[in-house]
Amino acid sequence: MDPQDGLYIVMISVHGLVRGERLELGRDPDTGGQVKYVVELARALAAHPGVARVDLLTRRVQDPKVDAAYAAPEEALAPGARIVRLECGPRRYLRKEVLWPYLTSFADHAVQHIRRVGHVPDIVHTHYADAGHVGVRLCGVLGAPHFHTGHSLGRVKRERLLAQGLAPETIESRYNISRRIEAEEQTMDSAALVIASTRQEVEKQYQRYDNYGPDRMEVIPPGVDLSRFRPPARHTPRPAIQREVDRFLARPEKPMILALSRPDERKNIGTLLRAFGENAALRAQANLVLVVGNRDDLKAMDRGAQSVLQELLYLVDRYDLYGHVAYPKRHAADDVPELYRLAARRRGVFVNPALTEPFGLTLIEAASSGLPIVATNDGGPRDILANCRNGLLIDPLDATAVGAALLDALSDRRRWQAWARAGLRGARGHYAWASHVERYLKAARRIVGTRQRRRLWAERKSRLPSCDRAIVCDVDHTLTGDRRATQELFARLERFPGNIGFGVATGRNLQSVLAVLKQWKVPRPDVLITSVGSEIHYGPKLIKDAIWEQRISYRWNRDRVVRTLRGTPGLLLQEAETQRPHKVSYYIDPEKAPSIEALIQRLRKNDLHVNVIESSGQFLDVLPVRASKGLAVRDFVLKWGLPLDRVLVVGQSGNDRDMLTGNTLAVVVGNHSAELEGLRGHPLVHFAERPHAWGILEGLEHYGFLEATPRAAADEADAGAGEAALPEDAEGAAERAAAG
Ligand code: GLC
Repeated sequence: MDPQDGLYIVMISVHGLVRGERLELGRDPDTGGQVKYVVELARALAAHPGVARVDLLTRRVQDPKVDAAYAAPEEALAPGARIVRLECGPRRYLRKEVLWPYLTSFADHAVQHIRRVGHVPDIVHTHYADAGHVGVRLCGVLGAPHFHTGHSLGRVKRERLLAQGLAPETIESRYNISRRIEAEEQTMDSAALVIASTRQEVEKQYQRYDNYGPDRMEVIPPGVDLSRFRPPARHTPRPAIQREVDRFLARPEKPMILALSRPDERKNIGTLLRAFGENAALRAQANLVLVVGNRDDLKAMDRGAQSVLQELLYLVDRYDLYGHVAYPKRHAADDVPELYRLAARRRGVFVNPALTEPFGLTLIEAASSGLPIVATNDGGPRDILANCRNGLLIDPLDATAVGAALLDALSDRRRWQAWARAGLRGARGHYAWASHVERYLKAARRIVGTRQRRRLWAERKSRLPSCDRAIVCDVDHTLTGDRRATQELFARLERFPGNIGFGVATGRNLQSVLAVLKQWKVPRPDVLITSVGSEIHYGPKLIKDAIWEQRISYRWNRDRVVRTLRGTPGLLLQEAETQRPHKVSYYIDPEKAPSIEALIQRLRKNDLHVNVIESSGQFLDVLPVRASKGLAVRDFVLKWGLPLDRVLVVGQSGNDRDMLTGNTLAVVVGNHSAELEGLRGHPLVHFAERPHAWGILEGLEHYGFLEATPRAAADEADAGAGEAALPEDAEGAAERAAAG
């Protein structure tokens, strides 16, 4: 992809069932407005000439209970736009509240996808807290700007549930709400731009967050697919859904009050029914049509939906609304535009009595179908009515007032017509996706658009997605030690026209190695393998690889290691700051201490399976059995899909040993410590004559690493090594490294 072609945008919306056609909106609480929003936004962005490609990343679901479409790894949405489905935990469909443990793995798959594309996105745009969490990691690793749309917010939800009398523990266990709020805080910290749908969302909702930053927020109302939502034409055949509706009604031709929502307590359908049931004049004048999701067997629905529908049936009976109220059992996504048109043809209104309405997409759909609206006096409807001037606002808690407003809205024919026309105009002017995209890209240009900004982001971007080779160096006495050599090395790398990933692998912890690199004016690495391979950090934001940490925790018991080795002669614990969760470090006096083999044996007898590594004849590190610099390098190389023979590794002392053996191209600098002598003659280990970074430069030369294809040089070295007999010691070292 050529940046000249336009922006590469990666959108992430993890949960729910996401596909391009026949969206199953309302099928469950996770498949609703957000799914529609992201699919339509992806299409609309891709249609803009300033955008080259949009990838919408979502969770791949392989589950016989849902359609097979959700298992397809890719689905085209439009030219330049596609859905990409990534693994995320178990294969089966899961509700969003339980996805948290799998999001790190989703982020890793996203990295791999971007690596396949070979281009760091110009924008990573995440939707909802779960994707926000993924975005924090992804943007941290890639150095890409993070855009975010919350859709709804955890703090607001928690307050609402508390107000409803739910116990904090119940809220916690049912919704994992603190996890969500923490993810939202981190997202707001990371985001360069937060897109809200209404002013009120910014002022009343986002403001509850510690990382609230109004200057990074932009109000851009969502678009509506106006080609689907248009006013009724004069002579059109009856839509199929009409029969479904009319079979409930004694006099179907009366004005139709339409409500359309998920069967959710907060949509406040009960108050609407009471308003209708208690107002005789309204009942005489109009029918009420409640389209509240699809159902087969009420008893098979989730608790919330069940209780909403039970109340509905009860109230119909209680007010004897038979023949006046329709509540169709099923409808398809394609029936929805027909429902608005049917209500418009019958000179009805659309009503949204939700307790709160931050957004109100259905109101815009109604407006764009020429149907006036009556809606809750809250952020979304307030903005929409200010733009469209096509109806009335109501207090959703006051059933009598709701009834009166509905009657009022239906009573004046001329005003009704003026509303219908104003709604059409307002929807087109304010809520077309094309105008959303214009405003979106205008905001985006501020962040990534100007040449200066582009350069800034380019500097921060990771090289890893597009590099075809990488260098990983030990730090002390390898990268450092001779200032002129260090300078020369990076000048040489800078002159290389291609993209080389750069990493360091060190015994130091993150803070301490960052300080050293700064002192030595070493450019910020794309990957930092620290604390002898027990920690890996990626990208400009130094995002810690949590999966690596989990993986190496296998059979690790830090306290028992310390207890077992306590009092061993010749071993002295190092300073506190060098001790890490997965690394216990000692100073060793080889004269007084038992042999490494004896130490390992002692630990094994205590059922401790660990890696014991001696360096420079003075340090001793005990690590989990699955942690070492070499294993960390392999994890990094695998993650980014680099061939091992395109990875040059450089070391100097004992903790580098296992990193230097294997199929990477290895260099040992001239000033190496004695522990590495055993590697001499080993295939693909070059012993440089010169010390420090001079040795690295020599190694680059030796392997022809900066030539068009370093491969040839590696083959040569391989062939050469095959002919020469391996010295005894080298073979032993190779085996030991392989076993460790
Ligand atoms: C660094 C670390 C130290 C470790 C040594 C060898 O000096 O600070 O804790 O023992 O490297 O890996």
